[in-house]
Amino acid sequence: MVILREHPDEPIRPNDPALYERLADEWWSPRGSFAMLHWLAAARAELVPPAAREGAVLVDLGCGGGLMAPHLRGKGYHHIGVDRSPTAVRQAADHGVLAVRGDVTAVPLRDGRADVVAAGEILEHVEDLPRAVAESCRLLRPGGLLVLDTLADTALCRALAIGVAERVPGMAPRGVHDPELLVDRAELARECARHGVRLQVRGVRPSLRGLAAWLARRSETVPMVPISSTAVLFQGRGRRAAADTPGRPRAAAQPGRTTRAAAEG
Ligand SMILES: C[S@@+](CC[C@H](N)C(=O)[O-])C[C@H]1O[C@@H](n2cnc3c(N)ncnc32)[C@H](O)[C@@H]1O
Repeated sequence: MVILREHPDEPIRPNDPALYERLADEWWSPRGSFAMLHWLAAARAELVPPAAREGAVLVDLGCGGGLMAPHLRGKGYHHIGVDRSPTAVRQAADHGVLAVRGDVTAVPLRDGRADVVAAGEILEHVEDLPRAVAESCRLLRPGGLLVLDTLADTALCRALAIGVAERVPGMAPRGVHDPELLVDRAELARECARHGVRLQVRGVRPSLRGLAAWLARRSETVPMVPISSTAVLFQGRGRRAAADTPGRPRAAAQPGRTTRAAAEG
């Protein structure tokens, strides 16, 4: 097992949940350890259209401190967040999210609850990708929208998103990512399709001009811009089929399904 030492006396392993408790005070700091998550939350919220009906629900999986909340305001959703970190859930609640503690691979919400499911920067943190995708799709109403962003399982991503970004303050905290959990794009598309969601993807990166302004402290945020390559950071968007097609597995979680490692053989 890889052990990272961020503080001399405190060994952590990559993707250790304890990291979020240690960095709990950083969630809402625009220049803190989670700064880039603010930029991504804004970009993710742009993929979400205004609610099409009264009482529409957006379920935010791995909601963290609730960074999507300000960007969803006025769009007409009840914003429900699910996260396993107690300190993150408290902060999300402080920002108006109906936040519950839970695991994204076994979400304590009923089938078809959501008009929109947002899975931002979470899939690259779960051990069981098929299960997390199944849960995301299970929560969607027929016709509901899945939006996500995550990191690709490529050598380039390991070099940039882990090798570089985890050494630049504000881009990503050291040790937050486990290279073993980066997301295989083909597997993600396949799992979504199995549950009735045809995913469309595009790459994104921080605007270089925006990044320069942020580094020079001339701006508090950085716009994310679309790029053609999905080899590092990418967004996905897809609607759940309006009705289950005969013969297609229902979009329900299947406990005991294969883990990511097993799926990859
Ligand atoms: C990188 S942060 C992203 C937070 C938020 N989505 C955002 O973009 O600001 C990952 C979050 O996922 C949560 N998380 C990781 N694994 C989880 C799991 N299996 N179930 C629920 N939450 C999880 C962590 O506690 C953390 O808050």
